[in-house]
Amino acid sequence: MKITVVGTGYVGLVTGTCFAETGNDVTCVDIDVKKVEKLSSGQVTIYEPGLEKLFERNLKEGRLHFTTNLEEGISEAAVIFLALPTPPGEDGSADLSYILKVADQLGHLLKDYKIIVDKSTVPVGTADKVHAAIAKNATVDFDVVSNPEFLREGVAVEDFMKPDRVVIGTSSERARKIMADLYAPFVRQGNPVIFMDEKSAELTKYAANSFLATKISFMNEIAILCERLGADVDMVRRGIGSDDRIGKRFLFPGIGYGGSCFPKDVQALVKSSQTVDYDFRILNAVMDVNEAQKVFLLPKIESYFENNLQGKHFALWGLAFKPNTDDIREAPALYIIDRLLAAGATVSAFDPEAMPNVKQLLGDRIHFAEHQYDALDNADALIIATEWSVFRTPDFEKIRTNLKDQVIFDGRNLFESPRMQELGFHYESVGRQAVTRLNSISK
Ligand code: UDX
Repeated sequence: MKITVVGTGYVGLVTGTCFAETGNDVTCVDIDVKKVEKLSSGQVTIYEPGLEKLFERNLKEGRLHFTTNLEEGISEAAVIFLALPTPPGEDGSADLSYILKVADQLGHLLKDYKIIVDKSTVPVGTADKVHAAIAKNATVDFDVVSNPEFLREGVAVEDFMKPDRVVIGTSSERARKIMADLYAPFVRQGNPVIFMDEKSAELTKYAANSFLATKISFMNEIAILCERLGADVDMVRRGIGSDDRIGKRFLFPGIGYGGSCFPKDVQALVKSSQTVDYDFRILNAVMDVNEAQKVFLLPKIESYFENNLQGKHFALWGLAFKPNTDDIREAPALYIIDRLLAAGATVSAFDPEAMPNVKQLLGDRIHFAEHQYDALDNADALIIATEWSVFRTPDFEKIRTNLKDQVIFDGRNLFESPRMQELGFHYESVGRQAVTRLNSISK
């Protein structure tokens, strides 16, 4: 099938590459000339495990093309995916201007029947708006379908190739058949393609992300209670997670959710609710809890250093909002850095992928270490903000000797507290009791 993907950001590039992998002929359109040049010459513009291999193969075999010309890009396509940004507007609601602008142009350009698919996360009713924007100028028949993506950064290729489910919102029988054919290779294991109306599909995406964000904020509050009541959140997590109705996944407490999706989508659903005169109370609380959680470690750090961080130096492991990505959008690490710098401390950070992005944002306000252990040199404490695998089984002896003071504040619960105590660390984490060194070493 001939497919066009408009927008070569994260979702667009993964979508285009994965559709090419199942034999489709894919043209990706983007207004960014430099990006199109890079992609055409074989350079992948985002970091995503597994993407590069697929991208190179399909580019070489002539199934992937890139252009800045929308007219040329869509001329032969049967299906046009819109994978355009929907950033939060000033009031937190999703900004649809990118999508509606392209829809408006498509109206002029369509010469035969095509399916236009909303792949971006868009508020309920957007498919109708896109339909209206195209219909204003169109002279041919077309359908608008809502097909939200559920990709997780870091495992996006796997999620696309083997989705838990594919949600397709359409009221057109013609579009339904074509979309079913397109997705058939991806659901061979029997996972469902769930057909529904456009509005339900649009709401499904927001409901899924908001539910997951709620699960995280709920656990983060349970973690606070654990600390105050003397319980251990790891135990509670295991205890509740083995109930199938709750499930083991997404119960890990930490320093809050970040990224491009959860914060934006929760906020957008709250805004959408307000437009129909409903106050989504649970989600307001989810947002509040998450805001506080991002700087959850700060009071612990302040208290350890007796409310004086002036002149203190901190090693920070992890900048990306989660492992296996270089994405720093809404990353808790950035909030921690802000607070530490404001208190007069200095920071030396290490992240396997995200340092260039943070460098661009913060310049030389913090120091970037070449290696994870170099970040520790002369630091008063180590703070862990992202659970990269390379941080999970570190050389504790090196940590001990490089740090000035054997203190670790772990926002991702990477280590077992008793072990840390045995190893001679003062160790504070999330939802578990702080442990202090057995053989106290003076500060
Ligand atoms: C999410 C959704 O999972 C995906 O379906 C959707 O399409 C886009 O948004 P992503 O943003 O890539 O994907 O990240 P995800 O792996 O879901 O993690 C989101 C955030 O939750 C991260 O900040 C992570 O650290 C945090 N998290 C996750 C927790 O704090 N605890 C958990 O148990 C799980």
